[in-house]
Amino acid sequence: MSVLVITGSARQQSHTRRLGEQLAAASPGAVLAPRLTELPYFDQDLEGTPPGTVQQLRQQVLAADTVVFVTPEYNGTIPGLLANAIDWLSRPYDGQPSVLRGKPVVTVAASPGGVGGVRALVSLRTVLGNAGAQLLEGRLSVSEVHVRLDDETLAAELDALVAGFSAEPARAA
Ligand SMILES: Cc1cc2nc3c(=O)[nH]c(=O)nc-3n(C[C@H](O)[C@H](O)[C@H](O)COP(=O)(O)O)c2cc1C
Repeated sequence: MSVLVITGSARQQSHTRRLGEQLAAASPGAVLAPRLTELPYFDQDLEGTPPGTVQQLRQQVLAADTVVFVTPEYNGTIPGLLANAIDWLSRPYDGQPSVLRGKPVVTVAASPGGVGGVRALVSLRTVLGNAGAQLLEGRLSVSEVHVRLDDETLAAELDALVAGFSAEPARAA
C-alpha cells in the first residue's frame, strides 16, 4: 500500500514534521511529501498552468492509496500553509475531478499543549470533507508533542493508527 504523509508546518525544527517522519517510518511504503513551503500561494489565475511544485504534489496524492495529513494547531485551526496546499489539491472543482476527490485520508494533529490540537483536527477533517476526500476513521491527536516524540506510548499509537488505516477497506468513492 502506498501512503503519502503531508505535514503542515513550515519551520525547520517542527514537531509536526518529526511526527510525520515517525509515522512514515512506521508505515511500510510511506513517503513524506516535500515541505509545503515549496508551494506558491494559491491563485486562480495560475490554475491553467499550475506550478511544477503543485503538479508534483498532485501526482504524489494521485499515486497514493492513502494520504495522511499531520497538522499543528494555529489559532484553533490549521495553519494557512496547509490550507493553501489543500486549496491547490482541491482543484479543479468541476469537470476533471481533483486528486483529493474520493481520496482516502487520515488526519493527525499535534500540539505542545495539553489538548493535542483537537480544534485543528476538526478543521482539517471539515476542510478535507468539503474538498470531497474520503475521511477514514483513522485520526490521532497528540498532546505535549514536544516531549513525546521519542516515547514508546506514542510509537504504539502510531503503529495502531497505521494498522487501522491499512486494514480499513476503502469505500467506493
Ligand atoms: C500563530 C500561532 C498560533 C498558535 N495557535 C495555537 C493553538 O491554537 N493551539 C495550540 O495548541 N498551539 C498553538 N500554537 C503553538 C503551536 O502548537 C506550536 O508552535 C507548535 O510547535 C507548532 O507546530 P510545529 O512544531 O510543527 O511547528 C500556535 C503557534 C503559532 C505560531
